[in-house]
Amino acid sequence: MATMLTARLSRPLSQLPRKTLNFSERENGARGSLLFYSPSFVPGSRRTYADSVNPVGSKAVLVTGCDSGFGFSLAKHLHSKGFLVFAGCLMKDKGHDGVKELDSLKSDRLRTVQLNVCKSEEVEKVVETIRSSLQDPEKGLWGLVNNAGISTFGDVEFTSMETYKEVAEVNLWGTVRVTKSFLPLIRRAKGRVVNISSIMGRLANVSRSPYCITKFGVEAFSDCLRYEMHPLGVKVSVVEPGNFIVATSLYSPERIRAIATKMWEQVPEAVRQDYGRKYFDEMVARMENFCNSGSTDTSPVINAVTHALTSTTPYTRYHPMDYYWWVRMQIMTHLPGAISDRIYIH
Ligand SMILES: NC(=O)c1ccc[n+]([C@@H]2O[C@H](COP(=O)([O-])OP(=O)(O)OC[C@H]3O[C@@H](n4cnc5c(N)ncnc54)[C@H](OP(=O)(O)O)[C@@H]3O)[C@@H](O)[C@H]2O)c1
Repeated sequence: MATMLTARLSRPLSQLPRKTLNFSERENGARGSLLFYSPSFVPGSRRTYADSVNPVGSKAVLVTGCDSGFGFSLAKHLHSKGFLVFAGCLMKDKGHDGVKELDSLKSDRLRTVQLNVCKSEEVEKVVETIRSSLQDPEKGLWGLVNNAGISTFGDVEFTSMETYKEVAEVNLWGTVRVTKSFLPLIRRAKGRVVNISSIMGRLANVSRSPYCITKFGVEAFSDCLRYEMHPLGVKVSVVEPGNFIVATSLYSPERIRAIATKMWEQVPEAVRQDYGRKYFDEMVARMENFCNSGSTDTSPVINAVTHALTSTTPYTRYHPMDYYWWVRMQIMTHLPGAISDRIYIH
């Protein structure tokens, strides 16, 4: 045991080659660099997974937020793996393009369902739809992937209470609401709950408080649920994607500008005067730059969720992210705040 621990702890430092990474706020401009040893084990996006997986058989899963982004790709991918996929879509009733594309597959095993995670009546309706479509409802539902989410930005003093509540309603309360409604079916199957959090659920950042607090909440909820479900045979995993902004619809320059216009109009006069327009414009510009950043390949996220649903031993946390964010996460979650603040924030 002691040998195993020593090997694990010493592994990163014993690996070469050395690599220089910029330890700056990527979207906030350069703030210096640091040398570190790149571990040969692969964190994040290129992590390799164990081979032993459960046969998918006729297992059914529900994925929320499938109109676009990760959810859309996941629905198609899990379908291709043989799952019966219920794809919850916010805009099914409005004929969103993503929904049309999923429906165009015309497969019995890929069914889109209208699902706004903020509306209890829609959630309950989907519970009934799924219960009545399962071959044997007594065997329950194998998987729930809480993926639906929204994001915004803004320093604390620029963010209205309505904005905080709006983001929490989808990301946090939506996750809690859907999970509570589906747990009876998931428990019967001794199945899986996979919650899509974010690197922003592990570390905070300037101008991101409305989003960070919801994802930190998802992390806490997932941990509590994991402890409670363990004796019941249900496994709970969290997937913490890094930056895939350019690959999904979470942000767009248009959306950033719309949020910014509304924010400036609504911000209290005293805040407007104290910070000034220049500060505000710089904050918005940083977010606009952020929209064009990140990885275009979402497969690390899709593979992480698939592993969490199919492996006999799913991980508690998955980190589909690049080295920069993986190292930053380790430093910000393990070193004293005085040190990590100095490296990344101040
Ligand atoms: N992209 C990244 O870099 C990144 C990083 C870390 C974590 N994440 C997380 O990954 C998840 C998926 O996001 P994404 O990046 O794939 O963005 P996305 O393309 O915008 O996908 C989010 C989906 O959730 C849907 N949605 C929004 N409000 C909803 C509601 N009330 N009920 C049901 N569905 C709702 C959206 O529908 P509409 O399209 O119709 O609005 C959209 O289809 C989110 O939880 C997000 O926080 C993303």
